[in-house]
Amino acid sequence: MTSSPAVIDHPLLQHKISLLRDKETPSVIFRLLVREIAQLMLFEATRDLELTARDIETPLTKMTAPVLATPGPVLVSIMRAGNVMLDAALEIIPTAGVCHIGIYRDHDTLEAVEYYFNGPPDIAERALLLVDPMLATANSSIAAITQLKARGVTNMSLICILAAPEGLAALSAAHPDVPVFVGAVDTHLNEKGYIVPGLGDAGDRSYAT
Ligand code: PRP
Ligand code: URA
Repeated sequence: MTSSPAVIDHPLLQHKISLLRDKETPSVIFRLLVREIAQLMLFEATRDLELTARDIETPLTKMTAPVLATPGPVLVSIMRAGNVMLDAALEIIPTAGVCHIGIYRDHDTLEAVEYYFNGPPDIAERALLLVDPMLATANSSIAAITQLKARGVTNMSLICILAAPEGLAALSAAHPDVPVFVGAVDTHLNEKGYIVPGLGDAGDRSYAT
């Protein structure tokens, strides 16, 4: 099985991603834009969330109304930069579970270095939404998904703001069963593994490091 990403190319998203790319955008605005973009992308990426029926009473009458099934999805942040998207997503789905996965890429080898995992005990039974602004080589997201599968997770999708074609191909080869939602697919990776035109280092730009 092979997969291709769902590119969410809504005009509002394209506009906000352009502001995000601008090197003059300061961290405080960068984080704000990442939050807004995450919420817009989440709207599309959660289209298949499971609903259940609940009996309620409006001021006028009784009705059976659709509500999110419980337990709800688990939002998974690939740290650090994923945390900005996670916080924004939690505002939209406040009942979601949360999982943090600490991964950074080694600057020289571009290999993923895993340093932290903390998620709910029933994670294997739940639908997961992974968030990370950047998919470059895909080493980080492949490592995160591999960790989750090792814990029994079968239902997950990944939301990234920017992706490189090389990373999408690598991810599709490693985990063809995981749907990917992206805001834009850029042209290529440069010799240091950065997405071009890209936006630079998402973690550094989020936290001014
Ligand atoms: C960034 C980004 C992704 C990763 C993408 O994290 O948030 O996790 O790079 O690159 P890849 O697809 O080539 O693995 P980074 O390694 O800068 O870690 P940080 O957020 O902790 O700074
Ligand atoms: N990680 C980032 O934050 N930016 C890139 O361009 C590549 C990896």
